[in-house]
Amino acid sequence: MTLYSRVRPLAFKLPPERAHNLGKRTLKAAQSTMPTRATLSYIYQYEHPALEVDLFGTTFPNPVGMAAGFDKNAEVTHALEALGFGFVEIGTVTPYPQTGNDRPRLFRLREDRAMVNRMGFNGQGMDRVRDRLERNAVPKIPLGVNVGKMNTSSEDEAIEDYRRVFDRLSPFADYVVVNVSCPNTPKQFDETSSDHLRRIFETLQDENDEDRPILVKVGPDSPTKSVLELVDIVLEFDIDGIVATNTTTGRDGATDSNREEWGGMSGKPLADPSTEVIRSIAAATDGELPIVGVGGVDSAERAYEKIRAGASLVQLYTGFVYEGPSTATRINKELVELLERDGFSSIQAAVGADLD
Ligand SMILES: Cc1cc2nc3c(=O)[nH]c(=O)nc-3n(C[C@H](O)[C@H](O)[C@H](O)COP(=O)(O)O)c2cc1C
Repeated sequence: MTLYSRVRPLAFKLPPERAHNLGKRTLKAAQSTMPTRATLSYIYQYEHPALEVDLFGTTFPNPVGMAAGFDKNAEVTHALEALGFGFVEIGTVTPYPQTGNDRPRLFRLREDRAMVNRMGFNGQGMDRVRDRLERNAVPKIPLGVNVGKMNTSSEDEAIEDYRRVFDRLSPFADYVVVNVSCPNTPKQFDETSSDHLRRIFETLQDENDEDRPILVKVGPDSPTKSVLELVDIVLEFDIDGIVATNTTTGRDGATDSNREEWGGMSGKPLADPSTEVIRSIAAATDGELPIVGVGGVDSAERAYEKIRAGASLVQLYTGFVYEGPSTATRINKELVELLERDGFSSIQAAVGADLD
């Protein structure tokens, strides 16, 4: 029995957002002194050459990252590094602070190992995040910055929002993600229309003097045809990769009464749908476009399925809530065993192995 399996029932007695904030406060305290940070590293660090991934001009020590939404304001990047994650994606960061939707806005679907959230881009805004990054929040592991627009922005204002956050935060980023797939922010216009995506990519590439890798995050609910249209635009504008996927508005595979809450569902029921999106993007691009696979990863098997379907890296959020602080370490150790079992010399050799 792990320590977390004893603590979890207590944490789960709290409302989910309070438990999340308490967890983050604990991580903040743990990263704030060198001895506690070193102790975490000592317990959780696991390195293996087969896990290293060279991508986006940098080396990821392992392919398991913390997904966007957990550390929106770059407050616990060092703790996540100490817990053995191979990279961290902060954000979604908006130009100005936003409170997000009314509470409650985060729900556990315990039996389903899932969550529904309608946080609505709550965050401190780009200036606070930049200050933190300037002071000391950039970890040694690669850092992704997920950028978004204000909830009230019109289509034209949204383009300017993305440009400003990109401008302000990309100097700290190993890659930047444009998030056009949040299912719980107000829809002022179609964020995934071809015209809008073209305008975003054109604007950011114009701004991108330092040639930072730019990715776009897609949802799992679009028909395959529109995912393939997105792929065409991504290739047209030399976008460097796709993060697949965001949460789903669907409730397939969920039985908990909280399935009735509106918002995006994450966790176990999302595992297969997101893997299918990864597979179709990888197939459409002959495995040439880097994919960051996310949705329902809570074990090495789930991570490995996404890698074999074409993901070069994976991320998780909900798996961390249910499995606890050792999640990344355990997945990484077991991934090495899966690679050895199947005769792959590295993660990179296994990427896309299941594509015909
Ligand atoms: C509470 C919560 C907040 C999230 N916030 C964001 C966000 O701000 N930006 C984003 O791109 N994705 C956000 N996500 C989506 C996750 O990054 C991820 O795509 C999704 O949860 C699926 O992964 P999982 O099943 O491992 O949780 C959020 C997810 C949760 C559960």
